[in-house]
Amino acid sequence: MTSSRTSGTRPRPAVLVEGGTVVGPGGVQRADVLVEDGVVAALGPGLAAPAGALRLDAGGCYVAPGLVDLHAHLREPGNEPAETVETGARAAARGGYSAVVAMPNTEPAIDSAAVVRDVLALGRDACVEVAVAGTITLGRRGEHLSPFAEMSALGVRLFTDDGRGVQDPSVLRRALEYGRDLGIVCAEHCEDERLAAGGHMHEGAWSSRLGIPGQSALAEEVMLARDLALVRETGAPMHFLHLSTAGSVRLLAAARAEGLPVSGEVTPHHLSLTDAEVATYDPVYKVNPPLRTPADLAALAAACAEGTIDAVATDHAPHPPEDKDRPFEEAPPGMIGLETALAVAYGALVVPGHLDVMRLFALLSWQPARLAGLTGAGHGGPLVPGAPAHICVFDPAAHGVFDPASGASRSRNTPFGGRELTGAVRHTLVGGEPVVIAGEAQR
Ligand code: DOR
Repeated sequence: MTSSRTSGTRPRPAVLVEGGTVVGPGGVQRADVLVEDGVVAALGPGLAAPAGALRLDAGGCYVAPGLVDLHAHLREPGNEPAETVETGARAAARGGYSAVVAMPNTEPAIDSAAVVRDVLALGRDACVEVAVAGTITLGRRGEHLSPFAEMSALGVRLFTDDGRGVQDPSVLRRALEYGRDLGIVCAEHCEDERLAAGGHMHEGAWSSRLGIPGQSALAEEVMLARDLALVRETGAPMHFLHLSTAGSVRLLAAARAEGLPVSGEVTPHHLSLTDAEVATYDPVYKVNPPLRTPADLAALAAACAEGTIDAVATDHAPHPPEDKDRPFEEAPPGMIGLETALAVAYGALVVPGHLDVMRLFALLSWQPARLAGLTGAGHGGPLVPGAPAHICVFDPAAHGVFDPASGASRSRNTPFGGRELTGAVRHTLVGGEPVVIAGEAQR
């Protein structure tokens, strides 16, 4: 995917990341990492700091390739009170990300080469790399296909109407046929709007008890099953966004076993929060797809461990208070997540023993980097001499309460505010530049 970020020609001081445990696709090792001129210069125990080098303490930390988010709503153009590319990128850096994919449900939608160019230009000065996803259909109206060829010529790899699914199967079929030959990937927000109509939370025991109209798991699973049939027919690859139900996991596992070219992601919130939270009637828990049941959470965690799910993606969805702080049924769905994703995923997956740290970083770094087409720019590692120094330093022993008011995002709609989280991002380097030091964004 085309890089939005100017790599910068100014000389940078060397950085020595000291005393950590380096994690990568190849394994785990105790090592210091020396960064010079934007790349990993050396890796090994007890490296000496060159004169003038910035020394970053990574004692007790994992030193991993920078995280890559497949799913971030940066809201620009059109909804700058909620977020901008600059503030969203800063939130991403604080979360340990070196690259994010900006979702196209903006105003106007990212459905033309001109808007792709605009968002890439905004990303050029951001502190992480900003890749851009395009819409599948013009204006996300589900009728006419976007100009895939001219957008993919600018490096756009993922196409999605996210926020909505493509309702008409004949439109998606044409998108898959057209996209297949261009080497792009259609990414679906699985939600059959007729089955979901009127639902504001998961349909189940809690929705009955609370008297809030529910949205059946079927709304997600029926569209996923339909899309898998279209993948089988066309041979085109598809990615499935924010899968949230045990039934979806079963469908995806069967499709993979059959050899279909499919991938799937889950969010930190669907791994860690259930529909019981909605009993507070707090709109911060309103999200699409809705929070599900403990059985769904267990199935999602198992799918992360078994490899059915390829990525943990944030679905960072900022909304300003004047929109979000409304009665549950009137509030827009979505929650921010870039700054808390790694700690929440660590707490949901590693702490209970579902998977080890290497697999966690696979889900948050090198697998999404591959799906986003960002490995060419060095995202997702591995951290070896000569590789671009995109680095996330994570302290798994840190305990802290996330305060949304001190976050980098323009919005504060997080359900994790005020909750104690296990683990914290200590430093983030992007292209060798320390963009976060000791938890503080540097620009
Ligand atoms: O909760 C959500 N919010 N789900 C989506 O798919 C879209 C997102 C948004 O853009 O606010």
